[in-house]
Amino acid sequence: MSIPNYKSKVVSAEEAVKVIKSGDRVQLHANNAYPDVLVEAMCDRYKELENVKVAHLTTFHKAPYVDPKMAGHFVHEALFTAGNVRKALNEGRADFFPVFLSEIGWLIELGKLPIDVCVLHLSPPDEHGYCSYGVSNEITKTGAENAKIIIAQINPQMPRVLGDNFIHVSKLKYIVEVDKPLIEVSMVDADTSAEEKLVYQKIAEYISSLICDGATLQMGIGAIPDAVLPFLKEKRNLGIHTEMFSDGLIELIDLGVVNGEKKSFLPNKVVSSFVIGTKLVFDYINNNPLIEFRSSKFVNDPVNISRNDNMVSINSAIQVDLSGQVCSDSMGTRIFSGFGGQLDFVRGAMRSKGGRSILAFPSTTKNDTISKIVPTLALGAGVVTTRADVMTIITEYGIADLYGKTLRERVKLLIDVAHPKFREELEQKAREFKWLW
Ligand code: COA
Repeated sequence: MSIPNYKSKVVSAEEAVKVIKSGDRVQLHANNAYPDVLVEAMCDRYKELENVKVAHLTTFHKAPYVDPKMAGHFVHEALFTAGNVRKALNEGRADFFPVFLSEIGWLIELGKLPIDVCVLHLSPPDEHGYCSYGVSNEITKTGAENAKIIIAQINPQMPRVLGDNFIHVSKLKYIVEVDKPLIEVSMVDADTSAEEKLVYQKIAEYISSLICDGATLQMGIGAIPDAVLPFLKEKRNLGIHTEMFSDGLIELIDLGVVNGEKKSFLPNKVVSSFVIGTKLVFDYINNNPLIEFRSSKFVNDPVNISRNDNMVSINSAIQVDLSGQVCSDSMGTRIFSGFGGQLDFVRGAMRSKGGRSILAFPSTTKNDTISKIVPTLALGAGVVTTRADVMTIITEYGIADLYGKTLRERVKLLIDVAHPKFREELEQKAREFKWLW
């Protein structure tokens, strides 16, 4: 390797993490790019450190900094929550930012969320000295560009993903060389029952009926957005402008269903800012000129989203009340996930010519004992999509088009797509509220 200064920057993980001081905010590379070796070395130092804030989006490894023994040494700041930190957050051992994915980069740039040390997981430098942020650009690239110090683990198994997705090796303070597979995450839950699969299929068919040839799609996080992809095989000339995608998209690209030819903004490119998936998608996006990774600040900007004609956003929800308020990030006061890009895409799709935002979910959960359509949201539930933003709600019972509808019309439409066993109770409550008469 003939990159000037590269060799002099290579140190052990123990040496690299010495740059972290008490009181610092450390930002970790997220999703499948979690910098595991550096994080372990950082946590090994816990007794020497106090009040180090550890900020990041979704990660899937065990998160040692939320272990109860780390209290006072590290405090996690969740920008989106996954299973590895959820318990700590809801036991009062971690903090949470209610924030749009599109806005996090702005908070960093404006100094509202200053980053002292950015910890990255990169591909090796090319002949010009540029390392790719690999499978995850999202807010990490913006964090690195504004951080006081950057340290990185460099891994030949990290794909070199194209787009505005590179950092020059000269920006790195220390490098730790590793050679290991990335953690893999499947969006398909192996425990999904046959009944659940049938529900997903019905929902996917309703969603598919609203997608025209030439549309551009966003798929959010969760079971439904990914489940819809196999039902789009008959479509033509679809485009992708999405904060994330997973393994399911590859088949549609291979079949020529997704080609981006009709996109009105960045045509012929799959525009995204990260993947959550397995080696299948990691290999596919490696050095692939079709793939254009950019920061969430760009991809999730509702103005950029709206530049795609026929933009269709597909996201999910935890609860929806009879007026159309959508909770997607919490179960009452218990934080479950985060805003992510849901409202960014709802608003972008709303402004797109021919666009539509879809929120799709099974009508019930926990074996039909809980309705996801409710008279009022649970106490403390967070509204992610407001009732003025909501457009199309889909369950296995059909499509409720709430856009431009009164409260009374919404109540009727939502009861029609609720599970039959909850409809009478919903109607009774709506009458009590004088939302139905
Ligand atoms: N009451 C009680 N429990 C509920 C519930 C409700 N209303 N809704 C869901 N749950 C439970 C489920 O039973 C399930 O529990 P289990 O893990 O014990 O089986 C768990 O919550 C997950 O529900 P599920 O419906 O499988 O979620 P999902 O993986 O399909 O994700 C969201 C759905 C809404 C949580 C997910 O899309 C999300 O986090 N969205 C955030 C905002 C967003 O959309 N951003 C854009 C993409 S970043």
